[in-house]
Amino acid sequence: MEQLKNKIMHEGKVLSDTVLKVDSFLNHQIDPELMQEIGKEFAERFRTSNITKILSIESSGIAPAVMAGLYLGVPVIFARKRKSLTLTDRLYSSSVYSFTKKETNEISVSKDFLVKEDVVLLIDDFLANGQAVHGLVNIIEQAEAQLAGVGIVIEKGFQSGGTEIRDKGIRVESLAIVRSLENGEVIFQEEEGN
Ligand code: G4P
Ligand code: NA
Ligand code: NA
Repeated sequence: MEQLKNKIMHEGKVLSDTVLKVDSFLNHQIDPELMQEIGKEFAERFRTSNITKILSIESSGIAPAVMAGLYLGVPVIFARKRKSLTLTDRLYSSSVYSFTKKETNEISVSKDFLVKEDVVLLIDDFLANGQAVHGLVNIIEQAEAQLAGVGIVIEKGFQSGGTEIRDKGIRVESLAIVRSLENGEVIFQEEEGN
């Protein structure tokens, strides 16, 4: 997605060989018009998948997920990162380990909002090692719902998540795939359809 890549080129900050900071439009301040275009793009790519629900994770997945939900005309759920202390029997939950933060979060979704008739599109802001996506896939399995695919705003192609998830036969659509952040420079992977 050209508009997104331009935004990353102009406003992204390469913090290290592995970390790209995009606080000015995605992770802290949010650019609503860009989010709208991102939502449209996800909706176009999954238009024929009969999606009934979008599942994301707080906090940075919510903005792109809501915009995709708007264009697909379906509700958006976001997994919460701290399990509430009561009524855990009414929750699907899964453990997500972050290599970046070296901590484990329990993520959870109410059984009220995800049912086995659902066809689910997962959406998140970043795909790095794929732990968040694995956790969300696990929750969809618990619900016995159907997974239509995964929509990612920025995939770091040099980390293992994308390959692992695609190897499981899951469709992954990333709007920008970063091939390298070496020497302070963002290099994109050119991909058909991007
Ligand atoms: P993984 O799920 O793919 O395994 O990713 P990882 O544990 O490495 O990521 C932990 C957090 O850091 C996630 O946000 C993820 O979106 C974010 N992240 C990973 N790599 C980058 C990067 O290069 N740049 C930025 N800006 N973020 C990155 P989170 O903890 O869920 O936070 P949030 O959703 O509240 O923002
Ligand atoms: Na995230
Ligand atoms: Na994030």
